[in-house]
Amino acid sequence: MEYLDYLFSPRSIAIIGATDKKEKVGYAIFKNIVEGGYKGKIYPVNKRLDYLEGYRVYRSVLDIEDSIDLAIISIPIQYVPELFEQLGRKRVKTAVVISAGGKETGEKGKQIEEAIKERAKKYRIRFLGPNCLGFVNTLIDLNANFGLDKPLKGKTAFISQSGALFTAIMDWALREKIGFSYAVSIGNMADLTFGDIIEYLGKKEEVDTILLYMESLTDPEKFANVSRKISQKKPIIVAKAGRSESGQKAAVSHTGAIAGKDFLYSALFKRCGIVRSDNVLQLFDLTEAFSKQPVPEGNRFVVVTNAGGPGVMAADQFDKWNVKPVSLSEETIERLNKLLPRVWSHNNPVDIIGDAPPERYRKTLEILFEAPEIDGIICILTPQFMTKPYETAVQFYEVSKGKKKPFYPVLLGGEKLEKAKLFLEEHNIPVFETPEEAVDSMFLSYSYTYRKRLVAEDILEKSRGKNYKTVKHIIDKNLNEDNILLTEFETKKILSAYGIPVNDTYNTISVDEAVNVVRNIGFPVVMKINSPDILHKSEAGGVITGIKDIDSVKKSFEKILQNAKKYKPDAKIEGIIVEKQVSGDFELIIGSSFDKLFKQYIMFGMGGTMVEFFKDVSFDFPPLSKVAAKELIASTRIYRLLKSGFRDKKPVEINGLIDILMNVSDLLIDFPQIEELDINPLLAKENKFYAVDGRIKLRRFEGKNTILGGVN
Ligand SMILES: Nc1ncnc2c1ncn2[C@@H]1O[C@H](COP(=O)(O)OP(=O)(O)O)[C@@H](O)[C@H]1O
Ligand SMILES: [Mg+2]
Repeated sequence: MEYLDYLFSPRSIAIIGATDKKEKVGYAIFKNIVEGGYKGKIYPVNKRLDYLEGYRVYRSVLDIEDSIDLAIISIPIQYVPELFEQLGRKRVKTAVVISAGGKETGEKGKQIEEAIKERAKKYRIRFLGPNCLGFVNTLIDLNANFGLDKPLKGKTAFISQSGALFTAIMDWALREKIGFSYAVSIGNMADLTFGDIIEYLGKKEEVDTILLYMESLTDPEKFANVSRKISQKKPIIVAKAGRSESGQKAAVSHTGAIAGKDFLYSALFKRCGIVRSDNVLQLFDLTEAFSKQPVPEGNRFVVVTNAGGPGVMAADQFDKWNVKPVSLSEETIERLNKLLPRVWSHNNPVDIIGDAPPERYRKTLEILFEAPEIDGIICILTPQFMTKPYETAVQFYEVSKGKKKPFYPVLLGGEKLEKAKLFLEEHNIPVFETPEEAVDSMFLSYSYTYRKRLVAEDILEKSRGKNYKTVKHIIDKNLNEDNILLTEFETKKILSAYGIPVNDTYNTISVDEAVNVVRNIGFPVVMKINSPDILHKSEAGGVITGIKDIDSVKKSFEKILQNAKKYKPDAKIEGIIVEKQVSGDFELIIGSSFDKLFKQYIMFGMGGTMVEFFKDVSFDFPPLSKVAAKELIASTRIYRLLKSGFRDKKPVEINGLIDILMNVSDLLIDFPQIEELDINPLLAKENKFYAVDGRIKLRRFEGKNTILGGVN
């Protein structure tokens, strides 16, 4: 028996705060458990009552003779810490703290929550909540919550951080006939977190899909570790609130947790093989899709339709996901030619014409199910004059039964399609209302396949170790001298020690020295200010490019000094940088920063001075494996240009870029003292890369700075 079995499959439950007052939560929970058909022992606890609906009521848990696996608590939260002392003495194994008033209400609530945690730890009681609605385990008919009708049995599991969405989704699921094995309202996660519950549910045979409604994570490390394993076996789908700033503020008042940065959440989900749905509606759609249809093995989709317009809408929506309609093979087209009226589209979308009878749908689908070039089918039905919706729906069912490819019917219309919809729903086929919804679900289901494969290949490894000593020396020296901000000059020494290519760069302290350097490295050169107090050099007039003769070297030297003095009179100036001017087809950025929750992260994208404006960047976390680095690059828009070139710009060697990103990742793992790193730009031209500018912010920090894989 696993420890959390005591919680989710208890042999005995004490319901603390069970009451006869019908308007109270303690009544609703008691009632739900009793009426749900739970077969274990039920012990209501209430100081004031002797009997409750035929059950003997105990004054205290200590009076119960039996041993207790689970205590469900719905008394005012201020009494809960003291109650945990009793639970401890009674050796109760687990608890669900329904009571609200924890950290979501402010400082005082936070203290109470801490007190509960402390006692739980002392007595080794694992608990859900506080501020939650309880849970359901349909396998043993345990409806241990308030506010829910008994859900249908099924293989989906649901974990919700929001109580309101917990009830909303379970209610919707009843209507859509989606069954659950477990549904858990997780509340404030004072003890048990997403990671714990996913780990537990992931091992259960009776769970084949895990849905999450999330506002924030408190345990990204555990979450990541667990999800990366579980997602290999079963899909995890998350709807997360807080995409925008205001969304995050709302999340704070919801469960009191501080939502981290949303783009980091998205990056983490991807790295863990988790599919993110954009909104609750989509979560519903995906739940249906995953629970009723197979997952597409690839992204070659076909659209069948009896109307041109909706077919185009579907194709447009695929385009938003960067998915092109797959071309039908000659064989498939030939087979369709024999079947369809001459005017059929001869193409994907497969327009089988407005007069399509049920038979024509069926035969077309048979051919497409057999076509090896197709991974999934979207089938649109609009009610036209000759359409027989119900009979067509029956054919949909017959033809898709037991097939390995996903089949998503779209029934576009209202009244005329009701009977057909009902039939499909009753026969466990998802029904979509619009082509867009079907396409989004198809693509996101496929993205599970895609992400799962990424994670399978994404082996987390320790740093491959470069010139560790060189970098350590530079970092130690600077920290000893309290230099936190490293200039381009120092940064490039570090980068190059870790195999990140930089252009020849020299610091000069006189015009003569500058001229000498140029005689060595040759024209053209770039000259820049070297000052720890001026980090955005061009802003200070501290960068002059395209210097092609000795006279300009001399003039630029003086000019840059003057500009710097004007910009910041007291700036400490260490010299003037003279460096080789290199030419690049693309300006890229590689950066890193530290987030309290997610620790060190890495950014890649389109660089230059307008990074903030274009925001064509993507994020991930060290360590970067080869696949992770590749995916980080491929997630940006500029990737398409890098891959295929653009006008006179030749394609860039992506493998070279991958190697640089992995080197950056190694550097970050070896040196948690690097809090921030900015390589902007990294100039790229075919297989040549140069970090022509860089800066580093140091900190005094020892220990682990990554949430992935325990690599440092
Ligand atoms: N060595 C170089 N070769 C070619 N272009 C360069 C070089 N150094 C800088 N540049 C160009 O000048 C811009 C500003 O220089 P940079 O060193 O990045 O200063 P800043 O501190 O303002 O970011 C860069 O974005 C790049 O376009
Ligand atoms: Mg720069």
